[in-house]
Amino acid sequence: MSREEIGIRPGESAIELPSSFDAGVYFVGRIRTPWTAREQCPKNGAEADAVCTIIVDDCYADGLKDVASCTHLLVLYWMHRAPRNLILQTPRHHDATRGVFALRSPARPNPIALSVVELLDLSGRELRVRGLDCLDETPLLDLKPYFASTDAKPAATVGWHVERQRP
Ligand SMILES: C[S@@+](CC[C@H](N)C(=O)[O-])C[C@H]1O[C@@H](n2cnc3c(N)ncnc32)[C@H](O)[C@@H]1O
Repeated sequence: MSREEIGIRPGESAIELPSSFDAGVYFVGRIRTPWTAREQCPKNGAEADAVCTIIVDDCYADGLKDVASCTHLLVLYWMHRAPRNLILQTPRHHDATRGVFALRSPARPNPIALSVVELLDLSGRELRVRGLDCLDETPLLDLKPYFASTDAKPAATVGWHVERQRP
């Protein structure tokens, strides 16, 4: 298969992944969003204004006890349409190739994504939230309370990104 066919850009490299998995996951629900193509999605949760719905599967419903008391949640989800073998990547609109673990790209060995969302409303097993950037029907991995006291690191920086923004 050619580089173009598997969607590899100049500078990128793909690895052969191990032949077996080390663990399994349970999808605990689905995320409903207005976006059906990757190009339509916001690049990150901060860019996203749309209200999305997280639907938790029935067997996990009791796990939502007390969630309504949270203003913000950490949402972990599975980027089910992303390749998993791209170890060096040249993101669209970037001029450099970077390691997958220095990027927030959906393409990664374990395509786990996360966003901090604002919880607008919880009704039954459905949460209405703002701040997601994923395709409609993206599988849900987990929900956790967002603790500003321990999770926020306002002084944190990403060196390559700071450099990129310099004129
Ligand atoms: C840059 S990632 C960031 C994800 C998450 N906020 C994070 O930081 O881990 C967001 C992009 O992933 C792509 N994407 C969204 N849902 C996806 C899915 N289910 N499978 C593959 N790619 C997806 C879209 O192009 C979207 O703009």
